[in-house]
Amino acid sequence: MPKRRILVTSALPNANGSIHLGHLMEHIQTDIWVRFQRLQGNQCIYVCADDTHGTATMLKAQELGVTPEEFIIGIKAEHERDFHDFLISHDNYYSTHSDENQQYSSLIYTRLKDAGQIIVKSVDQLFDPEKNMFLADRFIVGACPKCKTEGQYGDNCEACGATYDATDLINPVSKISGAKPVLKKSTHFFFALSNFSDYLREWTRSGALQEQVANKLAEWLDAGLKDWDISRDAPYFGFEIPGESGKFFYVWLDAPIGYMASFKNYCDGSDDLDFDDFWSVDSECEVHHFIGKDIVNFHALFWPAMLSASGFRTPTKVHAHGFVTVDGLKMSKSRGTFINARTYLDHLNPEYLRYYFAAKLTGSVDDLDINLDDFIQRVNSDLVGKVVNIASRCAGFINKQFDGQLAAQTLNPLIKEVANQRSSISNHYENGDYGKAVREIMAMADGANQFIAEHKPWALIKEDGNREKVQQVCSDGINLFRMIVTYLKPVLPELAKNTEAFLNIDPLDWNSLDITLLDHRINKFESLMVRVDSKTVAAMIDAGRESQELDSKPSTEEADSEGIADDIEFDDFAKVDLRIVRIVNAEHVEGADKLLKLTLDIGSGQRTVFAGIKDAYEPGQLIGKLTVMVANLRARKMKFGMSEGMILAAGSGGKRIYLLEPNDGAKPGMKVT
Ligand code: 2FM
Ligand code: ZN
Repeated sequence: MPKRRILVTSALPNANGSIHLGHLMEHIQTDIWVRFQRLQGNQCIYVCADDTHGTATMLKAQELGVTPEEFIIGIKAEHERDFHDFLISHDNYYSTHSDENQQYSSLIYTRLKDAGQIIVKSVDQLFDPEKNMFLADRFIVGACPKCKTEGQYGDNCEACGATYDATDLINPVSKISGAKPVLKKSTHFFFALSNFSDYLREWTRSGALQEQVANKLAEWLDAGLKDWDISRDAPYFGFEIPGESGKFFYVWLDAPIGYMASFKNYCDGSDDLDFDDFWSVDSECEVHHFIGKDIVNFHALFWPAMLSASGFRTPTKVHAHGFVTVDGLKMSKSRGTFINARTYLDHLNPEYLRYYFAAKLTGSVDDLDINLDDFIQRVNSDLVGKVVNIASRCAGFINKQFDGQLAAQTLNPLIKEVANQRSSISNHYENGDYGKAVREIMAMADGANQFIAEHKPWALIKEDGNREKVQQVCSDGINLFRMIVTYLKPVLPELAKNTEAFLNIDPLDWNSLDITLLDHRINKFESLMVRVDSKTVAAMIDAGRESQELDSKPSTEEADSEGIADDIEFDDFAKVDLRIVRIVNAEHVEGADKLLKLTLDIGSGQRTVFAGIKDAYEPGQLIGKLTVMVANLRARKMKFGMSEGMILAAGSGGKRIYLLEPNDGAKPGMKVT
């Protein structure tokens, strides 16, 4: 059979946060499929990238006082380390902020425009007059127009489920500055998606999608497709639209093109890969995308329409999966179940999680629950108790009694049976039903353990004349172990590597299933995997909870009453610009336990600062008072708005916080020395 040529992608992680269990489920699912293809001898290239553009990255970088370009470099390095340590075998991990991506985004846009598929419209949009920027729906909050619940985003209400336009919100405010947004007109560019309804009706039923997904999309197609707004106004971290100054591609336009760009970047560094072989309209290669069910509209509507209208091939298959839950609930920061990749790696072996995900994945869009007790139980009973146990039961005899030498022949029918399951296991991997593959592989391990238990080499060795039988039983056991590890290699590449070293053999692949190791010398057995214990899992959950608390704590609550911090140089202290300020307004902040919102006259203007002094002062007591502030502290976005500096106070906290009393003659704006 000719070898398949396959390009595979996982959804591009956002460059504004860490890799967590949700990303890992997707990348592990993809990686298992990729490794399976490679072990069968297919050419399988796996690319990914950080999804860098958009307002969220821009604001996060601003908050940290760096440029978006600087910010995304650090995040990319962190993501790559995490994926590497989870044994994810990307051939290329790139960035959407790349020359290749800009070129392909511009090319696709220009082709769409030339084909008459770009429409220009003037739209009314909410605008933040303080920040001078248009606001995306999730940067506007207000009360729901239907049920009146406060604090709802500009697109839908979490309380009653209503969907609406941001302009319908009651008392909307900008989440970025706290200002009241105003309506403003702007020119936007739309991709004429509605022209592609008939095409997409056919494409979504072409076999590229799971049936559940195709059915969902049919509902949307029946409801009618709207044209898709692909532009955003400056300031925006992204690519400027060719020929349109101050207009940028919406992040979701260039994100999937990032798949092509990462592949192009990989081709440019390789001698035998040609971009067009994979992306031309008549390509015989395959393209597979693994994604979450929340982004099927982008991958199974917008993306194929854009590709076909711009002269590129469309995906062979979009593999959508569900969400991860932990102990039946959405991952939660307060419960410690919003677990980052690094928190997991600090405590547990990545192959435990790879195995657990494999055991539970079915190739459907159903959510996947990580039940922590079940996780411990499966790893211990399947991997350690069944699989590795086969080797540890047999290796000692071969090493000690037979100088590492395996028997010269075998007649064991189990070996043939296990080899014969190859096409069944392959089908399960191919279809993404890794759970079925794992169940069949574990049944093989049960068979092998039963065989060893029936022949009891530990008893045989004590009887005269049975040495040959012991060597035979243990050699068969080792061969069965080797075949089982071959089947598990897409899931457990590290276990496979250590097994190859132990057995003194070349890397295992699907062809290894035809071979039996006879008259072959193996190496000394070293432990291949240890049991996981519940204390380590509990420690990981605690660590997850602690790290989330630290990340989200406002600094007003971080006061440490013990110990003096490390010395700083005088030059560092001199950078702090302390000024006398007058409190011109003070008010309670709805929903805040400790904060008051202060308006400060700093001589040259006014500043808004949130201060954790609510227990010590009534707002009315403060108005008109002078105090001291750090005037050059970079503004920080807090839950309730931007805080543009910090006032100084002393005391042990709670009611005992004292604003410094000013000297006679102090005026707002005076420097404190
Ligand atoms: O949903 C997300 O996290 C996006 N960053 C996924 C992008 S996938 C692709 F289209 F780039
Ligand atoms: Zn509502």
